[in-house]
Amino acid sequence: MKILVINGPNLNLLGKREPEVYGKLSLKDIEDGLCKTFPRVGFAFFQSNHEGAIIDTLQSAQAEGVDGIVLNAAAYTHYSYAIRDAIAAIALPVIEVHISNILLREEFRKESVTAPVCKAQISGFGTEGYRIAVETLIQHFSQQQS
Ligand code: DQA
Repeated sequence: MKILVINGPNLNLLGKREPEVYGKLSLKDIEDGLCKTFPRVGFAFFQSNHEGAIIDTLQSAQAEGVDGIVLNAAAYTHYSYAIRDAIAAIALPVIEVHISNILLREEFRKESVTAPVCKAQISGFGTEGYRIAVETLIQHFSQQQS
């Protein structure tokens, strides 16, 4: 199974950026942790601060043999109709992740324009949310096979 993990703007700063909100782990720590926890999953990782680059990556995922996507679109979550349309346009399951609980934060973070076209949204579990999202995809595929 191949899972693509996409992280949006400012998540390249994890570990340094507001650690009281986003934790102390760097993005590399999180990615290494996923590879260790799920040795049988083939991971691809992508981070960008640019909306179009995230859209291009979503669009090309299936052709690159990806089975499912974990997406933390960061602030784009709250207003990018273009990323929402890209998720809706592809046939792959997408699990939305937020490290913080977006419902407990500022008003503008409470809405996700992308969640309605995702399979599930995981929010507020800290960086563990990425692991939970991968588990969710694994479970989704095992249910499809049975
Ligand atoms: C975030 C929440 C967003 O509101 C914020 O813009 C981020 C990170 C999270 O993981 O909690 O950059 O997606």
